[in-house]
Amino acid sequence: MRKMTVAEAREKNAIGQSALLQGWIRTRRDSKGGFSFLELNDGSCLANIQVIADADLPNYAEQIQKLSAGCSVSIEGEVKASGGKGQETEILATGVVVHGWADAQEYPLQKKRHSFEKLREWAHLRPRTNAFGAVARVRNCVCRSIHNFFQEEGFLYVTTPVITTSDCEGAGDMFRVTTLDIDNPPKQNGTVDFTQDFFGKPSYLTVSGQLEAETYASALGKVYTFGPTFRAENSNTSRHLAEFWMVEPEMAFCTLPDNMDLAERFLKRIFNDVLQQCGEDMAFFNQRIDNTTLETLQGVLASDFVRITYTEAIDRLERSGHKFEFQPSWGHDLQSEHERYLTEEEFAAPVIVYDYPRTIKPFYMYANDDGKTVRAMDVLTPKVGEIIGGSQREDRLDILEQRMREQDLDPASYWWYGDLRRFGSTPHSGFGLGLERLVQFITGMANIRDVIPFPRTPGNAEF
Ligand code: 4AD
Ligand code: MG
Repeated sequence: MRKMTVAEAREKNAIGQSALLQGWIRTRRDSKGGFSFLELNDGSCLANIQVIADADLPNYAEQIQKLSAGCSVSIEGEVKASGGKGQETEILATGVVVHGWADAQEYPLQKKRHSFEKLREWAHLRPRTNAFGAVARVRNCVCRSIHNFFQEEGFLYVTTPVITTSDCEGAGDMFRVTTLDIDNPPKQNGTVDFTQDFFGKPSYLTVSGQLEAETYASALGKVYTFGPTFRAENSNTSRHLAEFWMVEPEMAFCTLPDNMDLAERFLKRIFNDVLQQCGEDMAFFNQRIDNTTLETLQGVLASDFVRITYTEAIDRLERSGHKFEFQPSWGHDLQSEHERYLTEEEFAAPVIVYDYPRTIKPFYMYANDDGKTVRAMDVLTPKVGEIIGGSQREDRLDILEQRMREQDLDPASYWWYGDLRRFGSTPHSGFGLGLERLVQFITGMANIRDVIPFPRTPGNAEF
């Protein structure tokens, strides 16, 4: 008998076929006519399939009539046309095998709807809910789309290390990796002696694969890295995780405007793929989570991203007359309320802000001739704010080293990064897209903790 997913069995062309379906019961309803309706879900799509189990089945009274939410089953049967609302097909069962029971008194997902906060305590069970199943499928679609886009554009996928000894963003928000005995570390002149540590020097979980991606771009042209990154910043917001996934393209012979073009094309491709491939899940988000989601995505696809300098952004914020909690002022980072004002009210579209003050951006960004700004770009979206951060990179060694010293970094410890400028330097650019911020934007989910399977945030790393 052919094994079939619920998604396949829901298709009209499955009618008439015999099938084996395997999944978890969502509900059971007994009819007076001597049969039961079982709603079966296997995660292949949002919808369940209705199974009709007749009282003639040998284990009807003993097992089928005891099925409840969460039980796992194999169903053999025939796919029939269904007269029911919202379904083309249903299964007429010829056999039901119960693999695992789920005690109705104890199973947490029994009937009652739970808040997303409550479901975070059950990260092991929440993928069985409609919302988290839909998030998982959309996230998968986005990841596939990311790889497809870059592969089709001729980028090479490079994996960069998770453990590193360089601080890419120069912000110091890094998790230390060590095998030293923290109760009794070896010391030299009163400080911890990291020469005795596993790598012979202080090492950390990476905040970004960019610096390593630059080395490959400096040989292979267009590359991208896509992996987990870690930030030890104490930010308890709906947009910050301590562990998140970032995709980072890096291109030799590429300036900031080309970088912006790529970012815009890239995002639009992903939105388009999700709308095409995840229609049912997106309809769910639009109905249950945020009823502007579909309209927003379609609007973004149909429009050009706005591009303004940081200076103009500050100017517009100052002249807006809007009451902000933090007054915008030149030389300070944009707050999320500023990002939201620009994208939601001023332009009602994604906005690429570029040429930021050099004092608030990392050492590796290309210094403009004005002596005040660097060729940075942030892509801001409605609701979520910054989803991409990138720049043209400083390719002049002397200026790079000067910028490092300005930020109290020792050029000697970035000697290999300097070599990329010493030998065959090119104008080059790249950016980082936060996967979870993107999935948040697409789905309309309010909290970033609900778009990653196992969220890590300050004070929270269950499992
Ligand atoms: O702006 P960021 O810090 O840029 C970089 O790390 C560069 N090295 C990227 C590059 O040019 N290759 O981070 C890039 C993106 C942000 O725009 C945001 O979407 C996401 O990563 N991000 C976070 N997402 C979730 N939680 C956090 N704590 C995040 N920090 C950054
Ligand atoms: Mg940033």
